[in-house]
Amino acid sequence: MTQTAGKGTTVMPRTPVKEVLQPESVGKNVRLCGWVRTRRDSKAGLSFIDLNDGSSLKGAQVVAESSLPNYESEILKTGIGSSVEVIGEVVASPAKGQPTEVKAQSVRVLGYADPEKYPLQKKGTSFEFLRSIAHLRPRTNSFGAVFRIRNEICRSIHNFFQSRGFIYVQTPIITASDCEGAGQMFRVTTLDMLNPATKPGDKGNEINFEEDFFGRAANLTVSGQLEAEVFALAFSDVYTFGPTFRAENSNTTRHLAEFWMVEPEMAFCDLEGDMNCAESFLKTIFNDVLTNCAADMEFVHERIDNTVVDTLKAIAGSEFARVSYTEAVKILEESKESFEFPVSWGIDLQTEHERYLTEKKFKKPVIVYDYPKEIKAFYMKMNDDGKTVRAMDVLVPRIGEIIGGSQREDRVEILEQRMKDFDLNPEEYWWYLDLRRFGTAPHAGFGLGLERTVQFCTGMGNIRDVIPFPRAPKSCDF
Ligand code: 4AD
Ligand code: MG
Repeated sequence: MTQTAGKGTTVMPRTPVKEVLQPESVGKNVRLCGWVRTRRDSKAGLSFIDLNDGSSLKGAQVVAESSLPNYESEILKTGIGSSVEVIGEVVASPAKGQPTEVKAQSVRVLGYADPEKYPLQKKGTSFEFLRSIAHLRPRTNSFGAVFRIRNEICRSIHNFFQSRGFIYVQTPIITASDCEGAGQMFRVTTLDMLNPATKPGDKGNEINFEEDFFGRAANLTVSGQLEAEVFALAFSDVYTFGPTFRAENSNTTRHLAEFWMVEPEMAFCDLEGDMNCAESFLKTIFNDVLTNCAADMEFVHERIDNTVVDTLKAIAGSEFARVSYTEAVKILEESKESFEFPVSWGIDLQTEHERYLTEKKFKKPVIVYDYPKEIKAFYMKMNDDGKTVRAMDVLVPRIGEIIGGSQREDRVEILEQRMKDFDLNPEEYWWYLDLRRFGTAPHAGFGLGLERTVQFCTGMGNIRDVIPFPRAPKSCDF
Protein backbone atom coordinates (compact mmCIF):
# COMPACT_ATOMS: atom_id res chain seq x y z
CA MET A 1 0.00 0.00 0.00
CA THR A 2 1.34 3.43 -0.84
CA GLN A 3 0.30 6.76 0.54
CA THR A 4 0.50 10.11 -1.15
CA ALA A 5 2.47 12.61 0.87
CA GLY A 6 2.27 16.39 0.96
CA LYS A 7 4.23 17.22 -2.15
CA GLY A 8 2.22 14.94 -4.38
CA THR A 9 4.89 12.25 -4.42
CA THR A 10 4.15 8.65 -3.64
CA VAL A 11 6.15 7.61 -0.61
CA MET A 12 6.94 4.36 1.09
CA PRO A 13 4.36 2.90 3.50
CA ARG A 14 4.56 3.92 7.14
CA THR A 15 6.12 1.45 9.55
CA PRO A 16 4.61 1.47 13.06
CA VAL A 17 7.09 2.16 15.88
CA LYS A 18 6.19 -1.21 17.40
CA GLU A 19 7.64 -2.89 14.32
CA VAL A 20 10.68 -0.62 14.15
CA LEU A 21 11.58 -1.78 17.68
CA GLN A 22 11.79 -5.45 16.65
CA PRO A 23 15.41 -6.66 16.24
CA GLU A 24 14.36 -8.18 12.89
CA SER A 25 13.89 -4.67 11.55
CA VAL A 26 17.62 -3.94 11.70
CA GLY A 27 18.87 -3.11 8.23
CA LYS A 28 15.47 -2.01 6.91
CA ASN A 29 14.73 1.39 5.46
CA VAL A 30 11.59 2.74 7.09
CA ARG A 31 9.28 5.72 7.15
CA LEU A 32 7.93 6.31 10.64
CA CYS A 33 5.68 9.05 11.90
CA GLY A 34 4.66 10.08 15.37
CA TRP A 35 4.78 12.65 18.14
CA VAL A 36 7.97 13.73 19.86
CA ARG A 37 8.13 12.81 23.53
CA THR A 38 11.60 14.24 24.18
CA ARG A 39 14.48 15.68 22.20
CA ARG A 40 17.95 15.48 23.62
CA ASP A 41 20.88 17.23 21.89
CA SER A 42 24.38 15.92 22.31
CA LYS A 43 27.52 17.97 22.15
CA ALA A 44 28.76 15.66 19.42
CA GLY A 45 26.40 17.46 17.02
CA LEU A 46 23.43 15.17 16.95
CA SER A 47 20.00 14.91 18.48
CA PHE A 48 18.06 11.98 19.92
CA ILE A 49 14.30 12.09 19.43
CA ASP A 50 12.02 9.76 21.33
CA LEU A 51 9.17 9.25 18.87
CA ASN A 52 5.86 7.64 19.83
CA ASP A 53 3.01 6.76 17.49
CA GLY A 54 0.76 4.96 19.97
CA SER A 55 1.50 1.50 18.60
CA SER A 56 3.53 0.60 21.68
CA LEU A 57 4.39 1.95 25.08
CA LYS A 58 7.99 2.39 24.04
CA GLY A 59 8.92 4.95 21.44
CA ALA A 60 11.57 4.65 18.79
CA GLN A 61 14.85 6.48 19.27
CA VAL A 62 15.60 8.57 16.20
CA VAL A 63 19.15 9.81 15.73
CA ALA A 64 19.28 13.06 13.75
CA GLU A 65 22.71 14.35 12.78
CA SER A 66 23.52 18.04 12.47
CA SER A 67 24.46 17.47 8.84
CA LEU A 68 20.76 17.17 7.97
CA PRO A 69 19.85 20.26 5.93
CA ASN A 70 17.00 21.37 8.24
CA TYR A 71 18.80 20.46 11.49
CA GLU A 72 19.06 23.99 12.87
CA SER A 73 16.12 25.56 11.13
CA GLU A 74 13.55 22.88 12.02
CA ILE A 75 14.74 19.84 13.97
CA LEU A 76 16.10 21.92 16.84
CA LYS A 77 12.69 23.59 17.11
CA THR A 78 10.79 20.38 17.71
CA GLY A 79 9.89 19.37 21.23
CA ILE A 80 7.31 17.50 23.23
CA GLY A 81 4.10 17.21 21.19
CA SER A 82 5.52 18.06 17.74
CA SER A 83 4.62 15.62 14.97
CA VAL A 84 7.30 14.48 12.55
CA GLU A 85 7.93 12.09 9.71
CA VAL A 86 11.27 10.33 9.66
CA ILE A 87 12.84 8.32 6.87
CA GLY A 88 15.87 6.35 7.84
CA GLU A 89 17.59 3.07 8.45
CA VAL A 90 16.91 0.82 11.43
CA VAL A 91 20.22 0.00 13.12
CA ALA A 92 21.11 -2.00 16.22
CA SER A 93 21.21 0.39 19.13
CA PRO A 94 24.31 0.76 21.26
CA ALA A 95 22.15 2.20 24.05
CA LYS A 96 20.72 0.05 26.84
CA GLY A 97 17.02 -0.80 27.00
CA GLN A 98 16.25 -0.66 23.28
CA PRO A 99 17.26 -3.15 20.62
CA THR A 100 17.09 -0.73 17.71
CA GLU A 101 17.23 2.91 16.77
CA VAL A 102 16.65 4.81 13.55
CA LYS A 103 19.41 6.71 11.80
CA ALA A 104 17.51 9.52 10.12
CA GLN A 105 18.10 10.36 6.46
CA SER A 106 15.39 12.98 6.66
CA VAL A 107 13.20 14.48 9.35
CA ARG A 108 10.16 16.40 8.18
CA VAL A 109 8.23 18.43 10.71
CA LEU A 110 4.48 17.99 10.21
CA GLY A 111 3.30 20.15 13.09
CA TYR A 112 5.04 22.09 15.84
CA ALA A 113 3.74 22.28 19.41
CA ASP A 114 4.80 25.32 21.38
CA PRO A 115 6.48 23.79 24.45
CA GLU A 116 5.45 26.82 26.53
CA LYS A 117 1.80 26.28 25.72
CA TYR A 118 1.56 22.50 25.32
CA PRO A 119 -0.72 21.37 28.16
CA LEU A 120 0.90 17.96 28.52
CA GLN A 121 4.17 18.36 30.28
CA LYS A 122 6.46 15.50 31.00
CA LYS A 123 5.88 14.95 34.68
CA GLY A 124 3.42 15.29 37.51
CA THR A 125 0.08 15.40 35.74
CA SER A 126 -2.81 14.01 37.78
CA PHE A 127 -5.62 11.96 36.27
CA GLU A 128 -8.04 14.70 37.39
CA PHE A 129 -6.14 17.27 35.38
CA LEU A 130 -5.89 14.95 32.40
CA ARG A 131 -9.69 14.60 32.40
CA SER A 132 -9.84 18.32 31.61
CA ILE A 133 -7.67 17.75 28.55
CA ALA A 134 -9.31 14.53 27.36
CA HIS A 135 -8.35 15.45 23.79
CA LEU A 136 -4.64 15.18 24.64
CA ARG A 137 -4.51 12.55 27.38
CA PRO A 138 -4.40 9.66 24.86
CA ARG A 139 -0.82 10.79 24.18
CA THR A 140 0.38 9.94 27.68
CA ASN A 141 2.00 6.65 28.62
CA SER A 142 -0.77 5.81 31.09
CA PHE A 143 -3.60 6.32 28.63
CA GLY A 144 -1.63 4.62 25.88
CA ALA A 145 -1.35 1.52 28.07
CA VAL A 146 -4.97 1.65 29.28
CA PHE A 147 -6.45 2.04 25.80
CA ARG A 148 -4.28 -0.63 24.22
CA ILE A 149 -5.43 -2.96 27.01
CA ARG A 150 -9.05 -1.87 26.41
CA ASN A 151 -8.60 -2.73 22.75
CA GLU A 152 -7.20 -6.15 23.61
CA ILE A 153 -10.19 -6.82 25.90
CA CYS A 154 -12.56 -5.97 23.02
CA ARG A 155 -10.63 -8.22 20.65
CA SER A 156 -10.72 -11.01 23.22
CA ILE A 157 -14.49 -10.57 23.75
CA HIS A 158 -15.26 -10.94 20.06
CA ASN A 159 -12.80 -13.79 19.72
CA PHE A 160 -14.28 -15.69 22.67
CA PHE A 161 -17.80 -15.63 21.24
CA GLN A 162 -16.89 -15.92 17.58
CA SER A 163 -14.71 -18.98 18.24
CA ARG A 164 -17.70 -20.59 19.99
CA GLY A 165 -20.13 -19.95 17.14
CA PHE A 166 -22.09 -17.09 18.74
CA ILE A 167 -23.78 -14.73 16.28
CA TYR A 168 -23.03 -11.04 16.85
CA VAL A 169 -26.29 -9.02 16.81
CA GLN A 170 -26.49 -5.24 16.78
CA THR A 171 -29.37 -4.27 19.05
CA PRO A 172 -30.93 -0.80 18.79
CA ILE A 173 -29.68 2.22 20.70
CA ILE A 174 -33.08 3.94 20.62
CA THR A 175 -35.82 1.79 22.14
CA ALA A 176 -39.36 2.06 23.44
CA SER A 177 -39.01 -0.53 26.20
CA ASP A 178 -37.24 -0.37 29.54
CA CYS A 179 -35.16 -3.54 29.82
CA GLU A 180 -34.21 -3.27 33.45
CA GLY A 181 -37.61 -1.84 34.46
CA ALA A 182 -35.80 0.64 36.65
CA GLY A 183 -36.88 3.74 34.75
CA GLN A 184 -33.43 5.30 34.72
CA MET A 185 -33.56 6.28 31.08
CA PHE A 186 -32.61 9.17 28.85
CA ARG A 187 -35.57 10.32 26.78
CA VAL A 188 -35.13 10.78 23.04
CA THR A 189 -37.48 13.43 21.72
CA THR A 190 -37.83 16.13 19.08
CA LEU A 191 -40.71 17.85 20.88
CA ASP A 192 -40.25 21.54 21.55
CA MET A 193 -39.23 21.68 25.20
CA LEU A 194 -40.68 25.17 25.67
CA ASN A 195 -43.94 24.28 24.02
CA PRO A 196 -44.44 20.50 23.96
CA ALA A 197 -47.54 18.91 22.48
CA THR A 198 -49.94 18.01 25.28
CA LYS A 199 -53.22 16.22 25.76
CA PRO A 200 -55.56 16.04 28.75
CA GLY A 201 -54.66 13.21 31.12
CA ASP A 202 -55.73 11.85 34.52
CA LYS A 203 -53.68 14.39 36.45
CA GLY A 204 -54.00 17.44 34.22
CA ASN A 205 -52.21 17.92 30.93
CA GLU A 206 -49.73 15.25 29.81
CA ILE A 207 -47.13 15.29 27.09
CA ASN A 208 -48.61 13.90 23.90
CA PHE A 209 -45.94 11.58 22.59
CA GLU A 210 -48.10 10.74 19.59
CA GLU A 211 -46.83 14.05 18.26
CA ASP A 212 -43.22 13.08 18.92
CA PHE A 213 -40.77 11.84 16.28
CA PHE A 214 -41.55 8.15 16.73
CA GLY A 215 -45.22 8.66 17.56
CA ARG A 216 -44.53 7.31 21.02
CA ALA A 217 -42.14 7.85 23.92
CA ALA A 218 -38.62 6.61 23.19
CA ASN A 219 -35.39 6.31 25.17
CA LEU A 220 -31.75 5.43 24.86
CA THR A 221 -31.31 1.76 25.65
CA VAL A 222 -30.22 0.61 29.12
CA SER A 223 -29.42 -2.87 27.79
CA GLY A 224 -29.69 -4.84 24.56
CA GLN A 225 -30.86 -7.94 26.38
CA LEU A 226 -34.53 -8.08 25.41
CA GLU A 227 -33.67 -7.78 21.73
CA ALA A 228 -30.80 -10.26 22.17
CA GLU A 229 -33.34 -12.75 23.56
CA VAL A 230 -35.31 -12.46 20.30
CA PHE A 231 -32.23 -13.49 18.37
CA ALA A 232 -31.18 -16.20 20.85
CA LEU A 233 -34.57 -17.83 20.30
CA ALA A 234 -33.68 -18.14 16.63
CA PHE A 235 -29.88 -18.46 16.50
CA SER A 236 -29.38 -20.22 19.88
CA ASP A 237 -26.14 -18.45 20.88
CA VAL A 238 -25.82 -14.72 20.26
CA TYR A 239 -24.14 -11.68 21.76
CA THR A 240 -24.55 -7.96 21.54
CA PHE A 241 -21.81 -5.46 22.33
CA GLY A 242 -22.44 -1.76 22.35
CA PRO A 243 -23.04 1.43 24.31
CA THR A 244 -25.75 1.60 26.97
CA PHE A 245 -27.11 4.59 28.81
CA ARG A 246 -28.31 5.02 32.36
CA ALA A 247 -29.64 8.21 33.85
CA GLU A 248 -28.88 7.09 37.39
CA ASN A 249 -27.45 9.87 39.50
CA SER A 250 -24.49 7.80 40.72
CA ASN A 251 -21.41 9.90 41.16
CA THR A 252 -19.03 7.05 41.94
CA THR A 253 -15.73 5.72 40.60
CA ARG A 254 -17.61 2.75 39.12
CA HIS A 255 -20.60 4.36 37.36
CA LEU A 256 -20.94 6.09 34.03
CA ALA A 257 -24.04 7.45 32.32
CA GLU A 258 -22.78 6.00 29.03
CA PHE A 259 -20.87 2.74 29.17
CA TRP A 260 -20.25 -0.32 27.02
CA MET A 261 -21.72 -3.69 27.78
CA VAL A 262 -21.30 -7.10 26.17
CA GLU A 263 -24.36 -9.30 26.54
CA PRO A 264 -24.33 -12.93 25.47
CA GLU A 265 -27.67 -14.74 25.38
CA MET A 266 -27.90 -18.52 25.13
CA ALA A 267 -30.95 -20.63 24.34
CA PHE A 268 -31.21 -24.13 25.82
CA CYS A 269 -29.10 -22.94 28.73
CA ASP A 270 -29.84 -22.70 32.46
CA LEU A 271 -28.29 -20.66 35.25
CA GLU A 272 -25.47 -23.12 35.79
CA GLY A 273 -24.52 -22.99 32.11
CA ASP A 274 -24.68 -19.20 32.33
CA MET A 275 -22.29 -19.12 35.31
CA ASN A 276 -19.91 -21.53 33.58
CA CYS A 277 -19.86 -19.34 30.48
CA ALA A 278 -19.25 -16.18 32.54
CA GLU A 279 -16.37 -17.80 34.41
CA SER A 280 -14.52 -19.09 31.38
CA PHE A 281 -15.22 -15.81 29.56
CA LEU A 282 -13.54 -13.70 32.26
CA LYS A 283 -10.58 -16.09 32.52
CA THR A 284 -10.06 -15.95 28.76
CA ILE A 285 -10.06 -12.15 28.77
CA PHE A 286 -7.54 -12.00 31.64
CA ASN A 287 -5.29 -14.56 29.96
CA ASP A 288 -5.39 -12.68 26.66
CA VAL A 289 -4.52 -9.40 28.34
CA LEU A 290 -1.57 -11.00 30.16
CA THR A 291 -0.31 -12.69 27.00
CA ASN A 292 -0.87 -9.96 24.43
CA CYS A 293 -0.30 -6.80 26.47
CA ALA A 294 2.77 -7.79 28.48
CA ALA A 295 4.58 -4.44 28.21
CA ASP A 296 1.48 -2.38 28.97
CA MET A 297 0.61 -4.64 31.92
CA GLU A 298 4.15 -4.24 33.25
CA PHE A 299 3.68 -0.48 33.02
CA VAL A 300 0.35 -0.41 34.90
CA HIS A 301 1.83 -2.80 37.46
CA GLU A 302 4.68 -0.36 38.10
CA ARG A 303 2.77 2.91 37.86
CA ILE A 304 -0.86 2.26 38.76
CA ASP A 305 -1.36 -0.81 40.92
CA ASN A 306 1.33 -3.36 41.75
CA THR A 307 -1.17 -6.14 42.41
CA VAL A 308 -2.92 -6.34 39.03
CA VAL A 309 -0.65 -8.82 37.26
CA ASP A 310 -0.61 -11.30 40.16
CA THR A 311 -4.36 -10.95 40.63
CA LEU A 312 -5.12 -11.63 36.97
CA LYS A 313 -2.75 -14.61 36.94
CA ALA A 314 -4.25 -16.08 40.10
CA ILE A 315 -7.81 -15.69 38.79
CA ALA A 316 -7.02 -17.18 35.41
CA GLY A 317 -5.78 -20.32 37.14
CA SER A 318 -8.35 -20.91 39.89
CA GLU A 319 -12.05 -21.64 40.32
CA PHE A 320 -14.49 -18.91 41.24
CA ALA A 321 -16.39 -19.34 44.51
CA ARG A 322 -20.16 -19.78 44.13
CA VAL A 323 -22.64 -19.03 46.92
CA SER A 324 -26.35 -18.41 47.02
CA TYR A 325 -27.57 -14.98 48.08
CA THR A 326 -28.95 -16.58 51.26
CA GLU A 327 -25.52 -18.05 52.10
CA ALA A 328 -23.85 -14.74 51.25
CA VAL A 329 -26.14 -12.84 53.64
CA LYS A 330 -25.36 -15.36 56.38
CA ILE A 331 -21.61 -14.89 55.81
CA LEU A 332 -22.02 -11.11 55.98
CA GLU A 333 -24.16 -11.27 59.11
CA GLU A 334 -21.65 -13.55 60.83
CA SER A 335 -18.67 -11.41 59.83
CA LYS A 336 -17.62 -8.97 62.48
CA GLU A 337 -17.33 -6.13 59.95
CA SER A 338 -19.08 -2.85 60.66
CA PHE A 339 -20.86 -2.09 57.40
CA GLU A 340 -22.33 1.29 56.61
CA PHE A 341 -25.46 -0.47 55.26
CA PRO A 342 -26.71 -3.10 57.72
CA VAL A 343 -27.23 -6.60 56.35
CA SER A 344 -30.39 -8.68 56.47
CA TRP A 345 -32.09 -11.08 54.05
CA GLY A 346 -33.79 -9.06 51.33
CA ILE A 347 -31.38 -6.14 51.05
CA ASP A 348 -29.63 -5.29 47.81
CA LEU A 349 -25.93 -6.02 48.33
CA GLN A 350 -23.89 -2.83 48.43
CA THR A 351 -20.36 -2.48 47.08
CA GLU A 352 -18.96 -2.78 50.63
CA HIS A 353 -20.72 -6.15 51.03
CA GLU A 354 -19.62 -7.35 47.62
CA ARG A 355 -16.04 -6.36 48.34
CA TYR A 356 -16.04 -8.11 51.72
CA LEU A 357 -17.15 -11.35 50.07
CA THR A 358 -14.60 -11.27 47.28
CA GLU A 359 -11.65 -9.55 49.00
CA LYS A 360 -11.80 -10.83 52.55
CA LYS A 361 -13.93 -13.96 52.70
CA PHE A 362 -13.06 -15.79 49.49
CA LYS A 363 -10.07 -13.80 48.20
CA LYS A 364 -11.12 -14.51 44.63
CA PRO A 365 -14.06 -13.87 42.31
CA VAL A 366 -17.40 -14.93 43.75
CA ILE A 367 -20.62 -15.72 41.92
CA VAL A 368 -23.67 -14.95 44.05
CA TYR A 369 -26.91 -16.51 42.74
CA ASP A 370 -30.62 -16.86 43.58
CA TYR A 371 -31.41 -13.32 44.73
CA PRO A 372 -34.70 -12.17 46.31
CA LYS A 373 -37.22 -11.49 43.55
CA GLU A 374 -37.97 -7.96 44.78
CA ILE A 375 -34.46 -6.62 44.11
CA LYS A 376 -33.95 -8.07 40.62
CA ALA A 377 -35.49 -7.36 37.21
CA PHE A 378 -38.87 -8.69 36.07
CA TYR A 379 -37.47 -11.03 33.41
CA MET A 380 -35.56 -13.37 35.73
CA LYS A 381 -36.83 -16.92 36.20
CA MET A 382 -38.75 -17.55 39.41
CA ASN A 383 -37.48 -20.33 41.63
CA ASP A 384 -39.86 -22.91 43.08
CA ASP A 385 -39.56 -21.28 46.51
CA GLY A 386 -41.56 -18.30 45.14
CA LYS A 387 -39.12 -15.96 46.89
CA THR A 388 -35.95 -15.96 44.80
CA VAL A 389 -35.09 -15.68 41.13
CA ARG A 390 -32.38 -17.33 39.05
CA ALA A 391 -30.07 -14.33 39.03
CA MET A 392 -26.31 -14.31 39.31
CA ASP A 393 -23.74 -11.57 39.85
CA VAL A 394 -20.00 -12.06 39.45
CA LEU A 395 -18.07 -10.06 42.04
CA VAL A 396 -14.36 -9.32 41.79
CA PRO A 397 -11.92 -7.67 44.21
CA ARG A 398 -11.78 -3.83 44.18
CA ILE A 399 -14.64 -3.46 41.70
CA GLY A 400 -17.46 -5.49 43.19
CA GLU A 401 -20.06 -6.42 40.55
CA ILE A 402 -18.49 -6.88 37.12
CA ILE A 403 -21.18 -9.13 35.60
CA GLY A 404 -24.92 -9.33 36.16
CA GLY A 405 -26.98 -12.08 34.57
CA SER A 406 -29.79 -14.59 34.94
CA GLN A 407 -31.80 -17.41 33.53
CA ARG A 408 -34.86 -15.81 31.92
CA GLU A 409 -38.47 -16.50 32.84
CA ASP A 410 -39.73 -18.70 30.01
CA ARG A 411 -43.31 -19.27 31.29
CA VAL A 412 -45.73 -16.74 29.87
CA GLU A 413 -48.19 -16.52 32.81
CA ILE A 414 -45.49 -16.08 35.40
CA LEU A 415 -43.70 -13.48 33.28
CA GLU A 416 -46.94 -11.50 32.84
CA GLN A 417 -47.54 -11.58 36.57
CA ARG A 418 -43.98 -10.40 37.24
CA MET A 419 -44.47 -7.44 34.89
CA LYS A 420 -47.62 -6.45 36.77
CA ASP A 421 -45.76 -6.75 40.08
CA PHE A 422 -43.28 -4.21 38.72
CA ASP A 423 -46.01 -1.91 37.35
CA LEU A 424 -45.01 -2.63 33.79
CA ASN A 425 -47.69 -2.88 31.12
CA PRO A 426 -47.57 -6.38 29.54
CA GLU A 427 -49.18 -4.97 26.38
CA GLU A 428 -46.09 -2.93 25.70
CA TYR A 429 -43.99 -6.09 25.90
CA TRP A 430 -46.28 -8.11 23.62
CA TRP A 431 -43.42 -9.20 21.38
CA TYR A 432 -41.30 -10.25 24.37
CA LEU A 433 -44.23 -12.32 25.69
CA ASP A 434 -44.73 -13.83 22.22
CA LEU A 435 -41.31 -15.45 22.57
CA ARG A 436 -42.85 -17.45 25.44
CA ARG A 437 -46.05 -18.17 23.52
CA PHE A 438 -44.40 -19.58 20.43
CA GLY A 439 -41.67 -22.13 20.98
CA THR A 440 -40.45 -20.96 24.35
CA ALA A 441 -37.21 -22.48 25.59
CA PRO A 442 -35.01 -22.19 28.63
CA HIS A 443 -32.46 -19.45 28.03
CA ALA A 444 -29.98 -17.38 29.97
CA GLY A 445 -27.44 -14.63 29.56
CA PHE A 446 -25.44 -11.94 31.27
CA GLY A 447 -23.94 -8.50 30.85
CA LEU A 448 -20.30 -7.62 31.39
CA GLY A 449 -19.43 -3.97 31.90
CA LEU A 450 -16.51 -3.19 29.60
CA GLU A 451 -15.21 -0.23 31.62
CA ARG A 452 -15.28 -2.14 34.90
CA THR A 453 -13.31 -4.88 33.16
CA VAL A 454 -10.73 -2.37 31.96
CA GLN A 455 -10.55 -0.93 35.49
CA PHE A 456 -10.06 -4.38 36.93
CA CYS A 457 -7.28 -5.29 34.48
CA THR A 458 -5.40 -2.00 34.74
CA GLY A 459 -5.94 -1.06 38.39
CA MET A 460 -7.27 2.37 37.35
CA GLY A 461 -9.16 3.85 40.28
CA ASN A 462 -11.73 5.93 38.40
CA ILE A 463 -13.97 4.57 35.66
CA ARG A 464 -13.82 7.98 33.93
CA ASP A 465 -10.21 7.25 33.05
CA VAL A 466 -10.83 4.03 31.13
CA ILE A 467 -13.34 5.32 28.55
CA PRO A 468 -12.26 7.80 25.85
CA PHE A 469 -14.81 10.51 26.71
CA PRO A 470 -16.65 9.93 29.99
CA ARG A 471 -20.29 10.92 30.48
CA ALA A 472 -21.43 11.23 34.09
CA PRO A 473 -23.80 13.46 36.05
CA LYS A 474 -23.01 17.13 35.25
CA SER A 475 -20.16 16.04 33.04
CA CYS A 476 -20.38 15.78 29.26
CA ASP A 477 -17.32 17.61 27.97
CA PHE A 478 -15.68 16.97 24.62
O1 4AD B 1 -26.41 -5.83 36.15
P1 4AD B 1 -26.80 -5.05 34.93
O2 4AD B 1 -27.70 -3.89 35.12
O3 4AD B 1 -27.43 -6.13 33.94
C1 4AD B 1 -28.10 -5.89 32.79
O4 4AD B 1 -28.19 -4.83 32.25
C2 4AD B 1 -28.63 -7.14 32.16
N1 4AD B 1 -29.61 -6.75 31.14
C3 4AD B 1 -27.50 -7.95 31.58
C4 4AD B 1 -27.95 -9.22 30.93
O5 4AD B 1 -28.34 -10.14 31.63
N2 4AD B 1 -27.91 -9.30 29.62
O6 4AD B 1 -25.50 -4.53 34.19
C5 4AD B 1 -24.50 -5.45 33.75
C6 4AD B 1 -23.11 -4.91 34.04
C7 4AD B 1 -22.81 -4.70 35.52
O7 4AD B 1 -22.44 -5.88 36.15
C8 4AD B 1 -21.67 -3.69 35.44
O8 4AD B 1 -20.44 -4.34 35.15
C9 4AD B 1 -22.06 -2.85 34.23
O9 4AD B 1 -22.94 -3.63 33.45
N3 4AD B 1 -22.73 -1.60 34.64
C10 4AD B 1 -22.16 -0.39 34.62
N4 4AD B 1 -20.91 0.00 34.28
C11 4AD B 1 -20.64 1.34 34.36
N5 4AD B 1 -21.51 2.27 34.75
C12 4AD B 1 -22.79 1.92 35.10
N6 4AD B 1 -23.66 2.86 35.45
C13 4AD B 1 -23.15 0.54 35.05
N7 4AD B 1 -24.27 -0.15 35.31
C14 4AD B 1 -24.00 -1.44 35.06
MG1 MG C 1 -26.55 -5.66 38.20
